[in-house]
Amino acid sequence: MAWPYPRIIAHRGGGVLAPENTLAGFATASRLGHGGVEFDVMLTQDGVPVIMHDDRLGRTVPGRGSIGAMPYARLRELDAGSWFDARFAAERVPTLAQALEMLVAAGIWMNIEIKPVPGHDAATGDTVARAVADFWATRGAGPAPLLSSFSVPALQAAQRAAPGLARALLVESVPADWRARLDALQAVALHVQHRYLSAYLVERLRADGHGVMAYTVNDPDRARQLLAWGVDAICTDRLDLLAPDFA
Ligand code: G3P
Ligand code: MG
Repeated sequence: MAWPYPRIIAHRGGGVLAPENTLAGFATASRLGHGGVEFDVMLTQDGVPVIMHDDRLGRTVPGRGSIGAMPYARLRELDAGSWFDARFAAERVPTLAQALEMLVAAGIWMNIEIKPVPGHDAATGDTVARAVADFWATRGAGPAPLLSSFSVPALQAAQRAAPGLARALLVESVPADWRARLDALQAVALHVQHRYLSAYLVERLRADGHGVMAYTVNDPDRARQLLAWGVDAICTDRLDLLAPDFA
């Protein structure tokens, strides 16, 4: 594929400069001129898609237990910024709807990682894909979001719910049967932990017509090497070191 998306993608929104997966993080990416962000989405107990990485409370929001056991009305009360810095204490866990609204208004492209609470893979893929497709049908601007996931059932559900939205398979290392896996999902790209990439694998994937995104690359020299190999996009925490025009 000819990669139609930004080449530098802000990991979890604001990378190291703001609390992950918050509107403040997206604002930070926007302020620095970044044109693409990656963020994670899962469902609350009552099925609201929210921007969250861990499926458990405790690290980025106070409390204990599973996000999948908490209704959104309770989750929205929790401080999602103080863990990072006291000045972000007003941040809350955003909904997918809030993220779409803000990022489209800012002209920022999205890689939406479907990150289901364990056991809720298909429901999460279905809900996220429908929400994005519905929003995009009336309010979308620019290239539509790319949905990605480590969860094959989540991607299958997204494919059924919104076949027109592009999908990418997330992996740690490149599996031997990558072609069959990508073909089965009709996925446009493979998103790979950069340590497991090689010039040879990048060349093979791209020769087969697939995009390649490398995560999470925080060293500019490594980013340069990956891009020289033909990697299409770099997902990074270091928005301060990898400027939008780095690639
Ligand atoms: O989508 C790339 C990257 O975000 C995957 O890892 O754990 O940061 O969601 P993680
Ligand atoms: Mg992610």
